[in-house]
Amino acid sequence: MLNFSLMGAGRIGKMHAKNIAMHSKCNLTYIYDINQDLANEVAKQNEAQVVQSAEEAINSKDVDVVFIASATPSHIDFITMGANAGKAIFCEKPIDLDIENVNKCFETVKDIDVPIQIGFNRRFDNSHKSLKLAKDNGQIGKLEMVVITSRDPEPPGIDYLKAAGGVFRDMTIHDFDLSRFILGNDPIVEVCAYGGQLVSEECRQIGDHDTAMLIMRSQQGVLIHINNSRRAVYGYDQRLEIFGSKGMMISNNQFPTSVEVFNKNNTYAKDLIHFFFIERYDQAYKDQLDDFVNIISSNKKPSVTFEDGRNALILANAAYESLESGKSVKVNFN
Ligand SMILES: NC(=O)c1ccc[n+]([C@@H]2O[C@H](COP(=O)([O-])OP(=O)(O)OC[C@H]3O[C@@H](n4cnc5c(N)ncnc54)[C@H](O)[C@@H]3O)[C@@H](O)[C@H]2O)c1
Repeated sequence: MLNFSLMGAGRIGKMHAKNIAMHSKCNLTYIYDINQDLANEVAKQNEAQVVQSAEEAINSKDVDVVFIASATPSHIDFITMGANAGKAIFCEKPIDLDIENVNKCFETVKDIDVPIQIGFNRRFDNSHKSLKLAKDNGQIGKLEMVVITSRDPEPPGIDYLKAAGGVFRDMTIHDFDLSRFILGNDPIVEVCAYGGQLVSEECRQIGDHDTAMLIMRSQQGVLIHINNSRRAVYGYDQRLEIFGSKGMMISNNQFPTSVEVFNKNNTYAKDLIHFFFIERYDQAYKDQLDDFVNIISSNKKPSVTFEDGRNALILANAAYESLESGKSVKVNFN
């Protein structure tokens, strides 16, 4: 059994707590959150113990895994503390908003022999994953285009937005990683990004964007399109398309049930698609945890590495450079 300390008991921490507590090879031992009420609530639901400091959560001798689901500004400190304490580390995306901090953290942890995995959960979605496998097996022939639609049902609150670092570093970062996952060893070399303030007054107030479109190009010439919105009135719109010389594959939106209604007003009327990430990627979050447990047990390299987290942030930064300059930007991963 692996003993976990969970850092952060907010939106996503609550979900991870449940998955960890239910996993047959995990104990959810400690929870730490600066919001004591939240920590107490999640600890009670999952029979875990609340601790009063990050040091206690991370350095306790009986802890094997530090699972970081707290707000982004805390990630680097907790990764560094966890690595220095010799614990396996899982950290939610993004590692940090500042590439200098990410580079410094990497210098500190790179020679410490602990697994560090980053929470790009979409790589574990069964449908997205089957497109990746099909592409790698040559089923769509030569890959020519990747099209990603990722739209949230509603914008987050202003407090979250203020700390999130902007749409490209908070939201599109998943799509940068998904693009890299599909492309494999063909790196993205160029990014052209547009952003709009069409939806959310809060986004406008803080100078963030709620609508985005990007075109990127890989070294081998694959063209990638990403479109994002912070507001889709019909739910969490998650579609991935790959197109190549032998055809096209789509990983489509998913529904709570497979029911279709036929009547005077509709044919093929379905439920609304899943509301948001917790429901849509339920299977992916569970498989992501299971994969990490197997990695720790078998001493394997993490499926989503610190470098993957760093590279996604570099693409987000390139997107901001493009947005601000009005030009397409060459990507430098060094
Ligand atoms: N992979 C995904 O699909 C996904 C989805 C949502 C959020 N996230 C990421 O997860 C992280 C948390 O997001 P959220 O939506 O749960 O936010 P949230 O605001 O709901 O929760 C964050 C929690 O962290 C706590 N916290 C803040 N600073 C802390 C510190 N120094 N020590 C301990 N606890 C601290 C807060 O009190 C809060 O309870 C963010 O980095 C976000 O980018 C990932």
